[in-house]
Amino acid sequence: MSLDKKATAGVIGAGTMGTGIAQIASTFGHTVFIYDAYPGQLEKSKEGLEKILKRQVEKERMTRSEVSGILNRIHYVDHLTDFKKCDIVFEAIIEDLQAKKDQFARLEAIVPKNCTLATNTSSLSIASISSILKKPERFLGVHFFNPAPLMKLVEIIPGISTAESTVKAAKNIIDSWEKVTAVAKDTPGFIVNRVARPFYGEALRIYEEGIADAPTIDWAMKEIGGFKMGPFELMDLIGHDVNYKVTESVFEAFYYDPRFKPSFAQKRLVEAGRLGKKSSSGFYDYKNLENNSEPNTDKELGQKILNRILAMLINEAADAVYMNIATVQDVDLAMKYGVNYPKGLLEWCDDIGAREVLNTIQDLKKTYSEDRYRPNPMLKKSAQSGIKFHNAQR
Ligand SMILES: NC(=O)c1ccc[n+]([C@@H]2O[C@H](COP(=O)([O-])OP(=O)(O)OC[C@H]3O[C@@H](n4cnc5c(N)ncnc54)[C@H](O)[C@@H]3O)[C@@H](O)[C@H]2O)c1
Repeated sequence: MSLDKKATAGVIGAGTMGTGIAQIASTFGHTVFIYDAYPGQLEKSKEGLEKILKRQVEKERMTRSEVSGILNRIHYVDHLTDFKKCDIVFEAIIEDLQAKKDQFARLEAIVPKNCTLATNTSSLSIASISSILKKPERFLGVHFFNPAPLMKLVEIIPGISTAESTVKAAKNIIDSWEKVTAVAKDTPGFIVNRVARPFYGEALRIYEEGIADAPTIDWAMKEIGGFKMGPFELMDLIGHDVNYKVTESVFEAFYYDPRFKPSFAQKRLVEAGRLGKKSSSGFYDYKNLENNSEPNTDKELGQKILNRILAMLINEAADAVYMNIATVQDVDLAMKYGVNYPKGLLEWCDDIGAREVLNTIQDLKKTYSEDRYRPNPMLKKSAQSGIKFHNAQR
């Protein structure tokens, strides 16, 4: 079915992501029903949204009437039966397979038979959640990034049973919300959480080997690479508990591929309760800023650090294309709009030259003799043929 402006949207789970998704849908004129299993959470979600929107009025980014329109279109409900008129439902409850399956089973008995069902899961497979449904063809993954109203990217993930029309309908409605959509195969980490792993993993490896400290690696990635944040600052911001868990789950899901190996340095931070900014200490000390050391701003060292991390990121991006996870265009869009990289990774490779990137990886392979540093066949092909990723036909 087609989903237009008149479509009624449902959101299950009124936490961080659910509240954000409800805000977006309502901003674009949809009537929204939002449900949460826990008392008090709906009230919290409502108050949180009112506060955010009030600030928009103060900053003169929105008018009072726009804000009251958004708030009035959202209905906070404590029964799923209120979803009986929904045309599309987004699920954003805790990341637990059984909990998600239970909610979808209940939901399927309530919503109209042509209602599109979407999960915002970050790490569960779309196939596993869909197994509970009688009509899995209307179900798919629609993965927003945090904060959902601000982050442009939304990954669209069809499962093995998803109908083409479901993908089209979901993509249409998300596009109409001025988002950038990238279609990804139902594989661990989808695009962003898979391709971004070396940003953290290779930085941690360089750190663990003692090649450079955290401020130096962050400096190199920002000043020479043009990234908005360095890997250590970013891990401190995300929280090491969250970031380590994602790395561990991707590592396990890829049958312990050494490319995704978690680091002891980060594990120890988690064990020590030094979770980053939220606990005032991680790789950096946020209580006593004077305790943090200055970076070594040696340009040659900085360039080496950037080349190594970037080569590993590009290799991962090439792998996502090679394994048909997503197209060259969608992999680049995903990294630009999902994690704000200064450039798409494959576009970056085309600019530097695949030969150069391949040389960096082959040098690492020679040095370490580890499978972690195996160059992707597509990167090799691009280096040999000189055909750029963005010009190649598949
Ligand atoms: N936070 C992020 O950065 C982020 C980004 C992308 C995707 N996600 C995914 O989005 C989902 C929600 O994450 P979040 O960060 O918003 O979590 P959250 O903890 O902020 O919110 C989850 C909400 O779901 C409710 N809930 C829990 N179990 C429920 C149930 N059985 N039925 C109905 N409601 C239930 C909770 O009361 C809570 O309000 C997860 O699947 C997560 O993996 C999170």
